[in-house]
Amino acid sequence: MSSKSILLGVNIDHVATVRQARYKDSPRGCGQFVEPDPITIALLCEKAGAQGITVHPREDARHIQQADVRRLRECIATRLNMEMAATDEMLTFALEVLPEAICVVPESREEVTTEGGLEVAGQFERIERIVKSAADAGIESSLFIDPVAEQIEASAKAGAKYIELHTGAYANAYYKSGERQAEYDRLVEGATLADELGLIVNAGHGINYVNVGEVITIPYLHELNIGHSIISRALYFGIDEAVREMKALIAGA
Ligand code: PXP
Repeated sequence: MSSKSILLGVNIDHVATVRQARYKDSPRGCGQFVEPDPITIALLCEKAGAQGITVHPREDARHIQQADVRRLRECIATRLNMEMAATDEMLTFALEVLPEAICVVPESREEVTTEGGLEVAGQFERIERIVKSAADAGIESSLFIDPVAEQIEASAKAGAKYIELHTGAYANAYYKSGERQAEYDRLVEGATLADELGLIVNAGHGINYVNVGEVITIPYLHELNIGHSIISRALYFGIDEAVREMKALIAGA
C-alpha cells in the first residue's frame, strides 16, 4: 500500500486534559463557559482533513468524559474510534454510543498514558466476547497490541478486523540507533504477519512530526492514530495547520 493512502485519525484526549485542568468540577451543558471544547476541535480536525476522531474515555475519566463521546457521536462526520478498556462497563457504553470502531486497550489507573500493548492471548475469551458483541452491534473492533506474533495471531483468532500496532517502544528508541532499527524491524514483521492473517493494520502511540517519515515506510499501514504531537503543535500554529502538516507528512510530502 502506498503511503499516500494511509489515513489519519486524530486523538483529541489532550484537548479534554486541558479543559479538565481548569473546569473539572464545572457542570457542563447549562450555558456555563468552558474551554477548550474537544468537540469544536474534532470538527476543526475534520475540516483540516482528518479521516477519523479517536477518544479514550478512561475509567478514571481524567480527560474525555462519556458526555463528550455522546456529543461527538452526534456531531462528527467521519469515523468515531473509541478506545476502551476490556471491561463490561465500557462495552455497555460502546453499545450505547455505537462508535464506528472500538480499539481495545490495556488500562491501569497509574499509567500516564497507555503504556504497553493489550494482552490478547492471555485473556482470549474476554477479548473474543467483546469483539463479537461489538460486531453484533455493527461496531468494528481493533486491538492495540505490541508487534508480537502470539498477540497478532490471537487477535486474528478473536475475530478482530483491525490491530493497532503499538509504536511507543519504537518512538522511545528513535534516538538510540541500534534499538530504533530493532523496534522498526519488529513493527515491519508484525505488520507483515498481520496482513498475512487478513488483519487490517493501524499504528499509533508516540508518532510525531519527526518520526512519522519513517513510520509510513512500515508496510500495510491503513491508518495512524496520533494525539499528543498534533495537539501540541496546535498550541504553536493552530489545529488546522497542525492537522494539515501531519497529513502532508503522511502523504510523503
Ligand atoms: N493509539 C492508542 C491506542 C492510544 O492509546 C494512544 C494514546 O492515547 C494513541 C494512539 C495516541 O498516542 P499519542 O498521543 O502518543 O499520539
